[in-house]
Amino acid sequence: MSHGHGPYYRRDLALAHHLGYGFHAEACAPGILALLEPVLARGGLVLELGCGSGLLTRELVGAGHRVIATDASPAMLDLARGHVTDADDIRRLTLPDDPLPPADAVVSVGHVLSYLPGADAITAALTAIARALRPGGLFAIDLCDLSYGQNRRGSPPLGRAGEDWAIITATSLPAPDRFICQITVFMRNDDGSWRRDDERHDNVLIDTARVPGLLAGEGVEVSVTSAFGAEQLPTGLAVLIGRRAP
Ligand SMILES: C[S@@+](CC[C@H](N)C(=O)[O-])C[C@H]1O[C@@H](n2cnc3c(N)ncnc32)[C@H](O)[C@@H]1O
Repeated sequence: MSHGHGPYYRRDLALAHHLGYGFHAEACAPGILALLEPVLARGGLVLELGCGSGLLTRELVGAGHRVIATDASPAMLDLARGHVTDADDIRRLTLPDDPLPPADAVVSVGHVLSYLPGADAITAALTAIARALRPGGLFAIDLCDLSYGQNRRGSPPLGRAGEDWAIITATSLPAPDRFICQITVFMRNDDGSWRRDDERHDNVLIDTARVPGLLAGEGVEVSVTSAFGAEQLPTGLAVLIGRRAP
């Protein structure tokens, strides 16, 4: 989704995410793969939303899944195409307005829906996800609950660095349902000097306990939990598992 000056995750932040922030997708993958075993058994199609640089996509494809991986960021999609060679497709799809192809499973990690501009847009995306599910299909996604913000109120800025990149993040909570992450990324140039880019990520927090009721009319039964499997996720990051009856 555009936020006034193009999609989130321009070139340098996309690369820094790929190099230094793979731990979340890696942690989520075993639980998601276990949930998707019945889909794999019947050769179903998995639609991934907000695939980023393809960190989860690679695990899905490696396990034998047919995957359409999508994201709003052209820079992320470029990285994903370099990182994953065997996906059915890797294509641009911006939530909540772009149509979703029908799928046997929809997966998304890294609070992709929390990047949408408001609660109505998140509801629209969740409804589109539910409608994309074929009979017997399931979705498994994470997104930020209201408690995500409460738990980070007053947190100090954080830094992380690798050999050729560094990131500083400063967060704020201007309203109970808005979490702002101001990100400065430094990337080393070929000549050894450093360049800088800045992105502001506006995340919308919702009361995830309301989602099962929101989607009941779509024929999808949703449970709200704190993990896809046995992994420990950050406090306030909720996992939604939705199932359409066969
Ligand atoms: C925190 S990253 C997670 C990326 C990847 N899933 C991972 O775990 O490494 C959030 C992703 O959501 C994507 N995104 C943000 N807004 C989006 C939108 N409106 N539609 C689709 N993707 C979006 C970003 O481009 C980015 O790749």
